[in-house]
Amino acid sequence: MTDDTAATVPPFDPPAPDSPPAVRPPVSPDDSHDLAGELVRRIEDRRARVLIVGQGYVGLPVAMRAVEVGFDVVGLEASPERAAALASGSSYVADVPDEQLRTALASGYRPVNDPAEIGPFDVAVITVPTPLNDGAPDLAYVEDAAATLARRLRAGALVVLESTTYPGTTDELMRPLLEQSGLKGGTEFFVGYSPERIDPGNPRWGFVNTPKVVSGIDDDSLRCVEAFYGALVDKVVPVGSTAEAELVKLLENTFRHVNIALVNELAMFADSLGIDIWGAIDAASSKPFGYMRFTPGPGVGGHCLPIDPSYLSWRVKRRLGQTFRFVELANDVNEHMPDYVITRAMNVLNRNKQALNGSRVLVLGLSYKAGTSDWRESPSIAVVERLLAMGADVRACEPYLPEAGGPALPAPVVDCTPDEVAAADLVILLVDHPDFPLDEIAEHACLLLDTKGVMRPRRFNGETL
Ligand SMILES: NC(=O)c1ccc[n+]([C@@H]2O[C@H](COP(=O)([O-])OP(=O)(O)OC[C@H]3O[C@@H](n4cnc5c(N)ncnc54)[C@H](O)[C@@H]3O)[C@@H](O)[C@H]2O)c1
Repeated sequence: MTDDTAATVPPFDPPAPDSPPAVRPPVSPDDSHDLAGELVRRIEDRRARVLIVGQGYVGLPVAMRAVEVGFDVVGLEASPERAAALASGSSYVADVPDEQLRTALASGYRPVNDPAEIGPFDVAVITVPTPLNDGAPDLAYVEDAAATLARRLRAGALVVLESTTYPGTTDELMRPLLEQSGLKGGTEFFVGYSPERIDPGNPRWGFVNTPKVVSGIDDDSLRCVEAFYGALVDKVVPVGSTAEAELVKLLENTFRHVNIALVNELAMFADSLGIDIWGAIDAASSKPFGYMRFTPGPGVGGHCLPIDPSYLSWRVKRRLGQTFRFVELANDVNEHMPDYVITRAMNVLNRNKQALNGSRVLVLGLSYKAGTSDWRESPSIAVVERLLAMGADVRACEPYLPEAGGPALPAPVVDCTPDEVAAADLVILLVDHPDFPLDEIAEHACLLLDTKGVMRPRRFNGETL
């Protein structure tokens, strides 16, 4: 799709990347109305040029969908290796197959590594990391991305933040950074926040059919954000402010984090009491109202659960001087789970008159959850490190290991063959990848510790967490 309407956008020559921002004459409220209306029209007829900043687990699927519905899309990616992989049609995101990437490359998708190559944009979406640094939010990537956009911002453009962050970031941090362009947010350009709800590996709920929460710093901004995401997904859910939308994401993840911690703590007590927690969870799940099923496991991982609730508790502490006790408690329980897995591994070996020290242990699954190659914050890595520290001889099976750019693994990775399973003194199932041959594992494992409850319908020698 070509840009045949640039003349309808008020002309504004962006300053060169490293020069001070240009000052642009103020725009009247009437113009502002026209700017929003013009952008909505450009979105509706797909003339809007889209820029996605950050081509990771979140940004790449957004870029793919935007191309699919007919936009020209630039994907700015700071990592030269990732940008080169994308340009060569090789995807590192499990939910984006190479074939989809190659189709996108042939129909309007352009990955770039150098901000100088992004060209003019009408809609920019920021999907960069928001890690924790010593327990505090690290918004350096968001700041960098906003500064890059400010240097190239044109009147009438929309900038949306999708990175998970504490309530207030879009309006208090990102908008002022963008205003260093000399343009005024809400009048001369539009600003919004829309949390990502991607669930890697989920075959039922994907980007298109998962409702998307959208927000803007004012009515015109919200109108533009709704128009853009309305073009990408089946249903948008507008909320009253960007802070509200930021809180939605943290509420959703804190809810999961706390409920997982609840069943993890219950699992530990139930084992000591000699009660089958899994049977109790199955029975409770038969209640058609007022209960939601969560299951125990070796801890929480990925980019969301171990990090996002701490963004909220940090904000509560900073702004109100109070402790978000649920988050602190959930962190405490979930972070303890790898140690608990080690204790259970020692106990199961001990009952077999064996010690962890010197035993051969086969770990099944290294990623943070089933069906994904994402190993960030994975509790499996913590379990492997602890096993090695205890003197175990560890091997790991991970069918989703990426060919390039994977983690520096602390143990050799092997295929999940009957021989490997049988050669281990203890097999520990940490991730319920759909690819694991569970019947074969149950048959050949000398001893098995199942931390995900997937072996329960089978006969095996060992126990479930
Ligand atoms: N992964 C998930 O399942 C998920 C789900 C919901 C929300 N989120 C949130 O979305 C955000 C992004 O997460 P992700 O999983 O996609 O991270 P990611 O690390 O996979 O991708 C982010 C990409 O941004 C690039 N980047 C960093 N700074 C940049 C810059 N200034 N310009 C261009 N590229 C830049 C990085 O090189 C990286 O490739 C985070 O805030 C995360 O919390 C993630």
